[in-house]
Amino acid sequence: MPEQQFTRTLVTSALPYANGHIHLGHIAGAYLPADIYVRFKRLKGESILYICGSDEYGVPITLTALKEGVSPKEVIDRYHAANAEAFARLGISFDLYGRTSWDLHADTTQTFFRTLYDGGYIEEQEMELWYSEQSGKFLPDRYVKGTCPKCGYEDATGDECENCGAQYAAHDLINPRVNIPGDTSTPVLRNSTHWFLRLPEFAGALKTWLDSHPEWRTNVKGIAYGWVQDLRARCITRDTDWGVPIPLEDPRAAGKRIYVWFDAPIGYVTNTRQWGIDTTGDAAAWEPWWKDASTRLIHFIGKDNVPFHAVIFPAMLMGQKDYILPDNVVGNEYLNVFNRQTGKAEKGSKSKGNMISVRWFVERFSRDAIRYYICAIMPEAKDAAFDWDEFLNRYNGELCDVVGNFVHRSLTMTVKNFEGKVPEPGELDADDRALLESLPALIDGVAESLEGFRFRQASERFIDIGRRANVYFDTKAPWTTRKTDIVRTGTTLYVCCQVVRALCTVMAPFAPDGAAKLAETLGITLPQGGPNGGPDGWNAAKQGIAAGSPLQAPQVLFPKVDPDLIAQLADEHAAGKAF
Ligand code: 2FM
Ligand code: ZN
Repeated sequence: MPEQQFTRTLVTSALPYANGHIHLGHIAGAYLPADIYVRFKRLKGESILYICGSDEYGVPITLTALKEGVSPKEVIDRYHAANAEAFARLGISFDLYGRTSWDLHADTTQTFFRTLYDGGYIEEQEMELWYSEQSGKFLPDRYVKGTCPKCGYEDATGDECENCGAQYAAHDLINPRVNIPGDTSTPVLRNSTHWFLRLPEFAGALKTWLDSHPEWRTNVKGIAYGWVQDLRARCITRDTDWGVPIPLEDPRAAGKRIYVWFDAPIGYVTNTRQWGIDTTGDAAAWEPWWKDASTRLIHFIGKDNVPFHAVIFPAMLMGQKDYILPDNVVGNEYLNVFNRQTGKAEKGSKSKGNMISVRWFVERFSRDAIRYYICAIMPEAKDAAFDWDEFLNRYNGELCDVVGNFVHRSLTMTVKNFEGKVPEPGELDADDRALLESLPALIDGVAESLEGFRFRQASERFIDIGRRANVYFDTKAPWTTRKTDIVRTGTTLYVCCQVVRALCTVMAPFAPDGAAKLAETLGITLPQGGPNGGPDGWNAAKQGIAAGSPLQAPQVLFPKVDPDLIAQLADEHAAGKAF
C-alpha cells in the first residue's frame, strides 16, 4: 500500500482534569512527547496544529467541590489557570488550551450525541443504581464505595474496582457506603433510565481500521484489540447536574448529564473550533482539521487512556460519518518515582505524597533541564522512574558536559581567535571531512527517531552528535595548534562551527531555551512554523554556517545543577513537599 500523503497534522494531548495540579507523570505521558514532536514539525515547516485543554466535568471534580465546600466552577477555574501556567512555563506550546466548560463545547458534544442517536447508535436502558435517601440523589461513580466482589478491595466504586480492574453490576458491590461528606445513610438500589453507546455496531469497522495500522506501538495495539474483541454497549450518561445536558426532549433525561468520558475527547474538536474562530474569525476554519482526509490526526496519551482513544472515540467519530480517524495513538507507560529509602521504584500517588508537581519543579530548575531528563527516560515501551541522582547525572553529564561544553569551548575559541567570525577553512583533512560529511545523516537520524515517536532514541542521537564533536575537538586540540598553526586552528574551528550550527537546530525540540540562545549567538533564525507551515528550518541546518558569519559572545546554554541542591530537594520531596 503506498504511504498516505498528508497535508496537515493535528496533534492532541489528553485533556487533564481541572481537579489537581499536573505532575511529572502527566508530562512524561502525554505532553512532553507531543510538544517535542510538534516543535520538530514546526521547524520542518509542516502545517501542524497542537490542541489541548482542561477536562472540567466528571465526578472527581464535584467530589472535590463538595469536600472543600465550594462550587465545581471554583475548582475548575483554579486548576485550569494553574495548569495552563504550569504547561506554559515548561514550554508546552499548545496552539490552544481550551476548556470543556465552554458553551461551545456543549454545542459540539450535543451535536455528536444527536448524530449518534439519530443514526441508531445510542439506546436506552433501564438500570439499577445506588441511591442515597438521605441526600436524595443517585450515586454515580465514586459517590458510592464498597468492597469489590472480585478481589475484596474495600475502596472499590459503584461498578468498577480500581484495584483489580473488575467491572460489575451495582448490586454486586459488597457493603456499599455513601461517599458524600455528612451522609451516613446506607445506599439503596433504584431504577433509572440511561443512554448507552452501542459499541458492538462498530466492531467490524474498528477491527478493519486497527488492522490498517500495524505500525502502532505494541502496548496500544494490545489494549485496543483486547477491547474490540469484547465490545459492549457503554453507558454515556450519569445522574448529576455537572456536565453537558442530554440533547433529548425526554423527561427521563432530567437531572442527568452526558458522561465526562463521552464529552472529553470531543473537547479536542471544540478546542479546534475555538482556535479557528480566534485565529481566523471563520467559524468553519476547524473543519479541514477534522474532516479532510489529508489531515493526519495523532493523539498523545498515557496508557490508561488507550481504550478511549483507540476504540471508543474512534467509534464516536465513525458514527459522525464525515470525520477522519486517528492515524496514530501514541500511548506512553507510566513514570514512577524512585524511592531512595527503599531503593525501589513506586507508583506516584497522592496518599504517599511522592509526586512532583510541575509548578514546584519549574520554580527550581530550567525547563530545558526538566525536558531533557524526562525525554531521556521517557516511558515508551515500559514504565520508567524519576530518580534525583539520575536527573543530576544525565542533565549535568549529557546536556551540559557533552553538548553545552562543546558548543561553549568551540565558540569561545572562535570568537577570541578569529575576530568574532566563523573562520575560513584551510585544506580539509580526513577527520574534518569525516565529521562534516556525517552531519546530514546525523541530523536525519534524529528526525527519523522523532518521526517514529522514539523520543528516547532521538535524544540519544542528539547527544551522540555532541559526543562525536568532542572526540574531534580533543583530537584536533585547537588550544595547542593555536600557538603553532593558525590555519589549522581555523579549519578545526570552522568544522566545529558547522556542528554547533547543526546542534542549534537539533536541540530545539528538546531544549528550546538553549536553542534560542544559541541561535542568537550564531545570528540565525529558527523558523517558528505553525498551522500554516513555513520554511524548512530543520533541513536548513545541513547547509551549515558560512565562513565569515559574525558571532556574538557565547552564553552558557545549560548551567550545571549543584549536587547539594539536588540533595536538599530530594529530602524535601521525600518529606512530601514537592507538590
Ligand atoms: O485521564 C484523564 O486525565 C482524562 N481527563 C483524559 C481525558 S483525554 C480526552 F479524552 F480528553
Ligand atoms: Zn477488585
